[in-house]
Amino acid sequence: MSSIKNKRILDVLNGVPVDKTPVWIMRQAGRYLPEYKATRAQAGSFLDLCQSPELASEVTIQPIKRFDLDAAIIFSDILTIPDAMGLELKFEDNRGPYFDNPIDDIDDIKSLSDKNTDSKLEYVAEAIIHTKEKLNNEIPLIGFSGSPWTLSTYMVEGSATKEFRKIRSIVFKEPEMLDLLTQKLVKSITEYLIMQAKAGADILMIFDSWGGLLNTQNYVNFSLNPMKEIISNLRKNSITRNIPIVLFTKGGGSWLNQIAESGCNAIGLDWTTDISMARNTVGENIALQGNLDPCALHGTEESIKDAASKIIDGYGFGHRHIFNLGHGIDQYVDPENLGILIDHVKEYSKKYHQN
Ligand code: CP3
Repeated sequence: MSSIKNKRILDVLNGVPVDKTPVWIMRQAGRYLPEYKATRAQAGSFLDLCQSPELASEVTIQPIKRFDLDAAIIFSDILTIPDAMGLELKFEDNRGPYFDNPIDDIDDIKSLSDKNTDSKLEYVAEAIIHTKEKLNNEIPLIGFSGSPWTLSTYMVEGSATKEFRKIRSIVFKEPEMLDLLTQKLVKSITEYLIMQAKAGADILMIFDSWGGLLNTQNYVNFSLNPMKEIISNLRKNSITRNIPIVLFTKGGGSWLNQIAESGCNAIGLDWTTDISMARNTVGENIALQGNLDPCALHGTEESIKDAASKIIDGYGFGHRHIFNLGHGIDQYVDPENLGILIDHVKEYSKKYHQN
């Protein structure tokens, strides 16, 4: 068993009672922290930061030093996989990440490599090793990947677009082409997640940020089933057989039953899903993670606490809730407000836990 001192999140994922609701925050290492901006400037660029194991591990633990968080998440990006497969990732400050030559046809997909993605992303494994040393077994470390569907959207669109018309048309017009891309991604993502676990990640999370763009049938076909395949691959591997897996589909609130059957240990909820409804839907055999609207952090001390209390009350008595936002924290949040939120979750949630 793991020798991690604060096991609250692992306990929630494994169904073991805890003393208070654990909390971590999506994008907890990011631009709202002045120390992140300083290290990023030192690295040169966002991509340099991702590819520098020492600096990536430094920004991973920055929020841990400031706040009473129950997990760290390795600093990287979901778009490193397409980069490793041959689509060169670029990044501009006012534009975010993008690909200059997105996928147009089946030949573009055929020329993508799905071999040795893990060795091309060795820098992430190194960042994990550095981070584990710095964490000194105090709290668990989360590794992650994008889902096949979400990576496909970026690889075909080139960046996050308004309507996602190109990828959404391919779903109907050329589903076999999307299947081929999906299969390559399933292979690369599986290898990549196993590599992260081998390097020391204690939990794995799959970000399906754009699953909510699809209708139910296409969500199941092109997003959920490929994620299931990844989970089943992980369960067959001796390194990842028992690792807790969190699956987050943004906009997935109406598919909770299907997601619960994927084999994951927890479902990430965005803020549009009512957490008590979610609990009633999936029961206590699976944990829930979420789901405060990130914009609540722009409120007053009182409104922040009130919004967090409502989510904790919404989940109610029980030990299968990991508090988080419903999506990533934005760069304009005052770090002090995040501290207020985290301390409040710890204090207020005690009444819902027995020990
Ligand atoms: O959560 C963490 O602290 C770990 C690090 C992390 C980042 N990106 C760092 C990052 C994680 C888990 C991600 C995942 C990610 N990246 C997702 C899935 C989660 C989600 O938000 O839906 C997606 C879709 C991406 C792709 C991506 N990366 C976009 C669209 C952007 C631009 C938007 C933005 O916030 O600027 C990024 C850039 C990015 N990834 C930043 C960070 C800290 C900001 C980069 C900067 O320093 O300027």
